[in-house]
Amino acid sequence: MVKTEHFKTYPFQINTIDEKEKALVRKLLNADPSEYVRVGPKKYLETANISQLGLELLNFQARKDDVWLFGYQRSGTTMTQEMLWLIKNDLDFEGAAKEVLDHRFPVIDNSLFLDGKEIKEIGDRSHVNEEVKIIARKYEKPYWQALNEMTGNRFIKAHLPISLSPPSVFEVGCKVVYCARHPKDVLVSLFHILKLFKPKEWEDISFESYWTLFKNNLLWNTPWFEHVKEGWAKRNDKNVLFLYYEDTKKDIRGTLIKIANFLDKKLSDNDLNKLEEHFKIENFRKNKSVNNDHFIELGIASKNKEHQFIRKGEIGGWKKYFTPELNAEVDKWIQENLKDTDLVLPDRKSVV
Ligand code: A3P
Repeated sequence: MVKTEHFKTYPFQINTIDEKEKALVRKLLNADPSEYVRVGPKKYLETANISQLGLELLNFQARKDDVWLFGYQRSGTTMTQEMLWLIKNDLDFEGAAKEVLDHRFPVIDNSLFLDGKEIKEIGDRSHVNEEVKIIARKYEKPYWQALNEMTGNRFIKAHLPISLSPPSVFEVGCKVVYCARHPKDVLVSLFHILKLFKPKEWEDISFESYWTLFKNNLLWNTPWFEHVKEGWAKRNDKNVLFLYYEDTKKDIRGTLIKIANFLDKKLSDNDLNKLEEHFKIENFRKNKSVNNDHFIELGIASKNKEHQFIRKGEIGGWKKYFTPELNAEVDKWIQENLKDTDLVLPDRKSVV
């Protein structure tokens, strides 16, 4: 097994956000700016606990038979996780239904944004059924610890940019998928998820204020373009599959076949029919193994159906949110960021 040389200390600079940014966080989010830091040469916005957890994350040892998935949040990563898991496990729909995706295919960096101990305690004292209590208990340990103890195939997702994730992933020869989506739809989808998971902080925040935070790279794992460019740069590597959400939406069978080939698996017509049914948004939304309803049952996430985790599943939903002025501003932002890169957005336009 290829072993990565472990870092003794965290190799990236961690800085506080600047005064102008602090003022924005206070004004628009009414939040404590000391919770946010900038990390590394690309100045990714991360939660301050990365100074305690980042080193352990970076030193996590990937294995050759792991399957990894990277992607900025709200880029279709959940459905792609489920595709990878099911195809790798020969369409074991029963096995998939028995355990929530979060535990079958953990988000290795979730300790940066979820307090696992608190989730477990909430579960223990809530009037929820035993099944949900068991799910809650499994969040207690950071996933990288549980994954270290795991034998057999491991499936691991990371929302962190590739450069802040374990370098061993690209050294051991395991399979890696990067998911991307058009930033306009990512913007809308993320707005809803913040209201779902942080209902108190985000309840009254307008789309305009949210966009101001996003364009100033004050949301987790921004700058968005840097995140995607890191995945894009790996797209021709032998063990990497780069997927656009939009391509899957337009041709789900094509993506399923692509994933099967990537994992050295074969899918019959019948398999494809079953998978297509499984991934229909109306079925997926109801599927408790993937829809994160346990967070609602635990009282951690909002019950408001407008902000569901598996939400609309559309291309171009942004059109209902953007005013013409905002659209012009976002187009300008896209154009500026595409200037010095060969990155192509999913609508296949390098310039909008
Ligand atoms: P919307 O909020 O635009 O609906 P992620 O899993 O990376 O967080 O991405 C979430 C986005 O993928 C959400 O987008 C969600 O609805 C969409 N999605 C999840 N499952 C889907 C499916 N089976 N088909 C289409 N879109 C899906």
